[in-house]
Amino acid sequence: MEIGILGSGNIGGNAARRFAQAGHHVRIANSRGPQSLRALVAEIGPNAQATSAQDAVDASDLVLIAVPWTKREEALGEIEGWDGKIVVDAMNPYTEDFEIEDLGSKTATEFTRALVPGARVVKAFNTIYYKRLAGDGKPKGEKDRLAIPVASDDAAAKRVVMDLIDEIGFDPVDNGGLVEGGRKQQPGSSIYNQPIGAKEMRAELARA
Ligand SMILES: NC(=O)c1ccc[n+]([C@@H]2O[C@H](COP(=O)([O-])OP(=O)(O)OC[C@H]3O[C@@H](n4cnc5c(N)ncnc54)[C@H](OP(=O)(O)O)[C@@H]3O)[C@@H](O)[C@H]2O)c1
Repeated sequence: MEIGILGSGNIGGNAARRFAQAGHHVRIANSRGPQSLRALVAEIGPNAQATSAQDAVDASDLVLIAVPWTKREEALGEIEGWDGKIVVDAMNPYTEDFEIEDLGSKTATEFTRALVPGARVVKAFNTIYYKRLAGDGKPKGEKDRLAIPVASDDAAAKRVVMDLIDEIGFDPVDNGGLVEGGRKQQPGSSIYNQPIGAKEMRAELARA
């Protein structure tokens, strides 16, 4: 699959490594431009390319958004052509002081959705600490795999993201629709940043 990654830091950079290792082609973009990503793409190898954010979106079937919440408008606002793309929102609504922003009755992904018109939005990768994403994946069928929840209103998009999570060594857990599921996996929830398996995660989500 052609995957675009906006944000090349803890989550974006490590997701890029995992996706490329699984055989996907990744186009990575950040705020400083493709030149600043030369070392990262060289390290990842031939499945990785540094591009502009617009090129990463244009050329990809799926785009992972892994920029700081406070930069989302700057990062996404001028990009065009979201229609039909699967957009995976990994962002959590932290302020620059690392406080959780009060979004009233809304979930973070509802704000993201407004910035990517026509996209098939999926909330995933926001609950897993980047070091676990980087190092704790295990082959399919192996015991004690960690779980990653996935929420979306688009069943086909959700399936694509769940398969991708499985390929990179984690057990995907279907967490329902975008708003309700997104709420259950936001910072402070019982499954947020918890290194737990699929069975335990399903039980926690059912209780939430
Ligand atoms: N850290 C975690 O364990 C973790 C876990 C789950 C979810 N998350 C979420 O994932 C997101 C990224 O977190 P992180 O820890 O990976 O952050 P990070 O290490 O600080 O990386 C942020 C990345 O976003 C890029 N960026 C900033 N402004 C941008 C813009 N206007 N356009 C394009 N790219 C821009 C930065 O590019 P430059 O380097 O060029 O500035 C950098 O590559 C956050 O929303 C966070 O809540 C983090």
